[in-house]
Amino acid sequence: MKRVLVTGGAGFIGSNLALELERRGVEVVALDDFSSGHFENLAGFKGDLIAADVSRPADWVGRVGAVDAVFHQAAITDTTVMDQKRMMEVNVEGFRNILSFAVETGVRRVVYASSAGTYGAGAVPMRESQTPSPMNVYGFSKMVMERVPAPFLREDPALTVVGLRYFNVYGPHEARKGKAASMIWQLYGQMKAGKRPRVFRAGEQFRDHIYVKDVVAANLKAAEAAASGVFNVCTGKGTSFNKVIAVLNSVLGSDLAPEYFENPYPFYQNETQGDPAAAKHGLGFEARWSPEEGIADYLGTKPARLPVGA
Ligand SMILES: NC(=O)c1ccc[n+]([C@@H]2O[C@H](COP(=O)([O-])OP(=O)(O)OC[C@H]3O[C@@H](n4cnc5c(N)ncnc54)[C@H](O)[C@@H]3O)[C@@H](O)[C@H]2O)c1
Repeated sequence: MKRVLVTGGAGFIGSNLALELERRGVEVVALDDFSSGHFENLAGFKGDLIAADVSRPADWVGRVGAVDAVFHQAAITDTTVMDQKRMMEVNVEGFRNILSFAVETGVRRVVYASSAGTYGAGAVPMRESQTPSPMNVYGFSKMVMERVPAPFLREDPALTVVGLRYFNVYGPHEARKGKAASMIWQLYGQMKAGKRPRVFRAGEQFRDHIYVKDVVAANLKAAEAAASGVFNVCTGKGTSFNKVIAVLNSVLGSDLAPEYFENPYPFYQNETQGDPAAAKHGLGFEARWSPEEGIADYLGTKPARLPVGA
């Protein structure tokens, strides 16, 4: 890879990916409409940046130039957004525009961000083969997005398109997502301010928390995949909110007990935990960071030791 396009390049994951690609000597063109991204995420970025809306191809198609690969991260990422038309225009039609661009300009590799939101409240461990059951229009848009590549792949057999179902990503550059940032970030913010961390009763809901450095690594592996497909990007382990709070207490040197409150949402993903086997087999990807190590790296301390029984 010599020159690539990273859409959503000013966002959380896109900026981490763009900066790592540059560190590896790849020329990066970023594309972003700054709806949830921020220029501060791109401190030190050397490449060009196209400020445009991916759902309006006339605004960017002629401006990208030749690229070997596309890493498509741009999306409406706030799962509470209810504007169904806009969600579908950006997440689904935006992706269709990316694939049209790829076929028309001879790009051979497209890697795109899907989501564990496609599984909804499905059984754990979540496997790529199970029937999707999204619980909101965000998850629905990601499910439909995964159906978009098929006709392009039939039209252009030289194209490889890999979808990555990220689980719950945390790490540097997520702060600008505000309330859509990870639970790890939300709990850290409360606890750093000396407040008791607030979680739904009784904190035993769990997430497959994956560090953004692992997500970047998965993208790099996917760009070299032998075949098209859709894969989980997960650690394979569920870590409860209570356990995350214990790790954060250890990192912060605090002893803040969780404050539980009733979950107001009738539809809520109580547990996410992916099966990492297909990504290991199909992409050679395995997550390297446990939540303890990832949180310590993120927040700049030594790995936290979990208190006995936490
Ligand atoms: N963070 C997670 O836990 C997680 C989990 C599953 C999937 N994902 C997916 O990963 C991708 C990156 O998400 P993120 O966490 O970095 O969020 P983010 O909101 O920080 O990044 C999304 C980026 O896309 C840009 N964008 C939005 N609409 C656009 C449009 N119409 N045209 C051009 N740019 C546009 C935003 O400005 C932002 O920079 C998304 O596709 C998201 O759905 C993230």
